[in-house]
Amino acid sequence: SEVKPFDMVIFGGNGDLAMRKLIPALYHRHQDGALCAEGRIIAASRHDISRDDYVANAREACRTYVGEAFSDTVWAAFAERLDYIRVDATREADFLPLAELLGAYPERTRVFYLSTGPALFTGICHHLGAAGLATENARVVLEKPLGHDLDSAEHINREVARVFTEHQIYRIDHYLGKEAVQNLIALRFGNALFEPLWNRSSIRDVQITLAEQVGVEGRGSFYEGTGALRDMVQNHLLQLLCIIAMEPPTSINPDAVRDEKLKVLRALHPLTGRSAIENSVRGQYKAGAIEGTSVPGYLEEDGVAPDSTTETFVALKTEIDTWRWAGVPFYLRTGKRMQERVAEVVVNFREVPHSIFSESSMPMPNRLVITLQPDEGVELYLMAKAPGDDMQLRPVALNLDFAQTFTTRKADAYERLLMDCLRGKLTLFMRRDEVDAAWRWIEPILDAWEQHGDRPKTYTAGTWGPAASSALVGRGGYCWHEEA
Ligand code: BG6
Repeated sequence: SEVKPFDMVIFGGNGDLAMRKLIPALYHRHQDGALCAEGRIIAASRHDISRDDYVANAREACRTYVGEAFSDTVWAAFAERLDYIRVDATREADFLPLAELLGAYPERTRVFYLSTGPALFTGICHHLGAAGLATENARVVLEKPLGHDLDSAEHINREVARVFTEHQIYRIDHYLGKEAVQNLIALRFGNALFEPLWNRSSIRDVQITLAEQVGVEGRGSFYEGTGALRDMVQNHLLQLLCIIAMEPPTSINPDAVRDEKLKVLRALHPLTGRSAIENSVRGQYKAGAIEGTSVPGYLEEDGVAPDSTTETFVALKTEIDTWRWAGVPFYLRTGKRMQERVAEVVVNFREVPHSIFSESSMPMPNRLVITLQPDEGVELYLMAKAPGDDMQLRPVALNLDFAQTFTTRKADAYERLLMDCLRGKLTLFMRRDEVDAAWRWIEPILDAWEQHGDRPKTYTAGTWGPAASSALVGRGGYCWHEEA
């Protein structure tokens, strides 16, 4: 659908996320002709800089992050949309000039993008309300982290709800904006092939890995109070798990999809006390090498306490207490400074019920590997006979490489999410009860670690995490995909 005339206000407009992701995303969309002519982008921040200075900063950021596709002609037209306004988000009076600026076009779609720390969310919403800006045509976008635990998340959600109704609130999980993640939905519900097998009768275990090679990238002091469980599992990993495990929704409508995701979150087998300890592994990287280049350990990073117990790796085993999934282990793991950058979902099918082949020639059960990052693809491992006199079976992959199939430019997650917000499409945003349910499952794990846990196990940067991670999967008689 068409984008209607809009005013988008970005709080934290001069900050890292805005410069790295939001402005370049909007630039791309402008270049593609996807934004209507009547659309302003108004950056707001507490810095006392002029519009010209802001535009110059934004241009530099775009040149860097758009790369070769950057064009001065396109930029000149795009920059016409940009404006800057100084707003100290904690001062109610600062919202009046903003109201005046927006007042010129009262009928436009208004998007307030809160690209600030969560500590400012409730204040900004409150001031927007007081300035008369929370009108029916307004939408608010909340960046993660949405709170630090259940209490703080509930507090934010409650306060924001005093000003905006749920259908005006766009909670971002940028993983949902990734093409590859939407492709998971296409794969599951656009093909009749998988659904009959997508349950405990055919599937033995599921593994979801979000491995990064980067460390904490100068965000040490933020990361110290966060850790991998809050930073990656509470949101991105659980969202992926929901898409893999949910029942087929009746439509792609926001609530149809979000209702099904919510059911998965609520059916996650609780990990509390001893069971949380037994079914989780926390890790912290020590110095090592990433592709031949040495990198410092977590404890040596800026802003990190020398005796920090913050985890940079976590592996979990969970189950989903439903008829479809009972008894199927779901292994989740994520880490910084891992051997490879890879985001993948591995579905291991059960063995054939009765093998007619000798044990040595029956290599492995079928396996579906869905790679989301860095290169999108799907591989389905089938057994085939290796050429020769003997009946020796060998896994052969049916290999679907999306980069080769679709050669058009792949939009960044933020492009999709910003456009969805302008169009009023909520499907790829999290509903309040989802965030709540995710925290309800995560919090007991954090509590158990605090009460019974030991220090995180160390792992050398550039490896697949602590040995205990292999042991966790090994206990069930399984192994991680890369160990197979
Ligand atoms: C963010 C986390 O949400 O996701 C970062 O805060 C992490 O720590 C990032 O690096 C990973 O996102 P992507 O898109 O690079 O996989």
